[in-house]
Amino acid sequence: MAPMQRSYDVIVIGAGAAGLMCAIEAGKRGRRVWLVDHARKIAEKIRIAGGGFCNFTNLHTSPKNFLSQNAHFCKSALSRYTQQDFIALVQSHGIAFHEKKLGQLFCDESAQEIIAMLLEECRRAGVVLQNDTGIERVEAIGNGYRVVTTRGTQDCDSLVIATGGLSIPKVGATKFGYDVARQFGLDVIETRPGLVPLTFQASLLERCQALSGLSVEATVSCGKVSFSEGLLFTHRGLSGPSILQISSYWREGQDILVNLAPSVDAFAFLKDRKKAQPKQEVQTALAEVVPKRLALSICEDAALSGRLADLPDGALRALARAVNEWRIRPAGTEGYRTAEVTLGGVDTNALSSKTMEAKTQPGLFFVGEVMDVTGHLGGFNFQWAWSSGYVAGQYV
Ligand code: FDA
Repeated sequence: MAPMQRSYDVIVIGAGAAGLMCAIEAGKRGRRVWLVDHARKIAEKIRIAGGGFCNFTNLHTSPKNFLSQNAHFCKSALSRYTQQDFIALVQSHGIAFHEKKLGQLFCDESAQEIIAMLLEECRRAGVVLQNDTGIERVEAIGNGYRVVTTRGTQDCDSLVIATGGLSIPKVGATKFGYDVARQFGLDVIETRPGLVPLTFQASLLERCQALSGLSVEATVSCGKVSFSEGLLFTHRGLSGPSILQISSYWREGQDILVNLAPSVDAFAFLKDRKKAQPKQEVQTALAEVVPKRLALSICEDAALSGRLADLPDGALRALARAVNEWRIRPAGTEGYRTAEVTLGGVDTNALSSKTMEAKTQPGLFFVGEVMDVTGHLGGFNFQWAWSSGYVAGQYV
């Protein structure tokens, strides 16, 4: 009997950033591509990213902005499809954008423009896109793969897994990609939420709640890693870019060190002030280093009040430490419900860094967040989705 005629050369599962990019590139090469997603609305994470304006890349993207057990893995893809390549694509569609800070590029109008651009590119490349389609199982068949879906069964030469990580289950995140990796004997590095607010024990939580809404420019460190960006007190704990960044490095049981006024040596300031204005109240002096509400909270926590002249240097030193070296031990994180990314994932040692193909399973590819490559906050995770999707698209 003659073999069944295949309708598609390539099936991409997951129509997020990485799956769309991979499908477009494969389609441009003349491959017949089926891009399939279980969600009703595809690319939801692009839509909600960057507060609806999508921080779609970062001007300063480099391999240093990524965490992975295999630090070199991301280099090849990032150098073959760079932030400038994606910017050129955005410009070719006439999408206006701006740099907010630290090289982070956002749409002027809306994240929907990025989605519309990718859908238009899919249309031009002849990609067949199917949403609202559950994947029941995938299996290897002779020289290809069979994908059994709620809309029927399709065979293909190359199967691309682009189902992302576990963050934000309510927009369609599943563990599907990890299950497929394990099904074909690939290792999966333990996953955990990243770029996520940290939570604290009751006493500290109370202080955070009292300060809720207040933000400062801080330096937050964990071990040898530090980030200097905004820190926000919330009714649930601490958040803001510096906390989200450090959360990707923090492990349970570790302390983090917060410098609430990185440009000021608080002890030197307080000692000078004690000499110059000995009658000044300590909280009034401290309010020149950090916002007033925070100054009051720090003094209250240290049980310090009164005139500077009446306070020994040791007490001022302890107070300064609470500003420049605030050591705190998070209880945990808010978890996948609010995490922007998932750390860990498909072990990149099992994949080719040139093609994203599984070394031991020809024709099976993984792209985007599903693998153990996680970017810092600031547009890096989308750049990884574009770069890994692009390179796989050249080989599928
Ligand atoms: P992504 O998660 O985007 O797509 C996976 C797709 O697979 C989804 O469409 C899903 O429905 C589908 N899928 C999952 N399981 C399936 C299954 N079993 N069957 C079929 N389909 C399935 N990054 C950045 O660089 N700049 C930013 O501004 C932001 N902002 C941001 C905000 C928020 C709230 C979040 C949660 C995340 C961000 N990120 C970000 C991170 C960024 O969104 C993320 O890293 C990329 O979307 C990853 O792209 P992927 O295509 O790999 O997965």
